[in-house]
Amino acid sequence: MGRSAPASFLLHALVVFSTLLVRQSTGAKDEVYATTLSSDSFLLGTRVLGYALRRVNATRPFMVLCTTDVSQASMDRLRLDGFIVHKTTPLHTPYKATHVLNKYQYTKIRLWTYTDYAKIIHIDADCLPMVNVDELFDCGHFCAVMRHSDMFNSGVFTLVPDQTVYEDMMNKRTELESYDGGDQGGTEDGAQNKLFAKGVHRLSFFYNADVGMYYLNSHFIRQPKIIHYTLGPVKPWIWWTYPLFDQNWQWLVVRELVEATTGPSTSLPTATLLLLTIIMFAVYYTFTRILRRSKRLSMMAQAADSTSAKAAPVLLIGLGTMVAYGVVPEQMHPYTAWCLFGVVQFSTTFLLNCCYCDAQRMALQ
Ligand SMILES: *[C@@H]1O[C@H](CO)[C@@H](O)[C@H](O)[C@H]1NC(C)=O
Repeated sequence: MGRSAPASFLLHALVVFSTLLVRQSTGAKDEVYATTLSSDSFLLGTRVLGYALRRVNATRPFMVLCTTDVSQASMDRLRLDGFIVHKTTPLHTPYKATHVLNKYQYTKIRLWTYTDYAKIIHIDADCLPMVNVDELFDCGHFCAVMRHSDMFNSGVFTLVPDQTVYEDMMNKRTELESYDGGDQGGTEDGAQNKLFAKGVHRLSFFYNADVGMYYLNSHFIRQPKIIHYTLGPVKPWIWWTYPLFDQNWQWLVVRELVEATTGPSTSLPTATLLLLTIIMFAVYYTFTRILRRSKRLSMMAQAADSTSAKAAPVLLIGLGTMVAYGVVPEQMHPYTAWCLFGVVQFSTTFLLNCCYCDAQRMALQ
């Protein structure tokens, strides 16, 4: 026989209440998931990360450390999403001159100053948690995944904020080597151990599974807990990576969750499309006018026979493709983006072909 419903409820309430009481009386600090955001272009990735944590029922809140390069609109958006937002000044890599892509990555070091928190799990904005990873809060002072040649990857790591560790890292950051010019540059026996004085606990690869490894092999032997979309040119928010990069589809599921709640992140580039349409008609109109008056049509007739004329259709398709690629916003939802790309590509190529055929026809008359 089970307990009656009211008794069970009372018991539950008591447990919850006493837990709260214990928490308050011990003054236990909170724990938090965190990421750093250095540019508006990573806003969508950051939002997807926050929603992905929510989807897997993460029990700690999500904090975003925004550098001064992030717009107010982006920070407002993150607050509306229900995330904790803090502003910080960017911390550049000492190797900024030679490693442009990694230039903001040292900002993560600022996390050590958030001593209001007992522990922080830092996750990069290009990561996607697939399952609940709350168990990482039980890991030590500094837990991270080693990658190729035992190099530490800073995509996912746990830390205990500590002002002295922070100051130590700030003092040492310029003297320590970095294998990639980024924040994860230290080697295991070198910079990294000095940087993270209390030692590194090695996490399973599956807490920071590099899609690069997946694409080398075409499969993951086990389903990762956190997928890290490391490959710069094929980040999952770039429309054309679909359908080529199959791991991106898992990210798209969460993106759609975000956009179902708050609407599309990118709108149709109406002004650009209008301008393009006007330009296309203007080009066609001007071209045919010039053509009619041209006295050098015989030259075109000669050209029509040459090999360059045979290459022309390929060239026109290429031109149309370039225009269409330029018009589609990079972070547009892939379905909308591919449709837009198709329409613009087709209409541009079609118009260019019209010009070309008119020229040929008139030349041969
Ligand atoms: C999260 O919690 C909801 C509601 O309790 C549950 O239905 C869902 O299966 C949970 N998701 C995961 C990934 O555990």
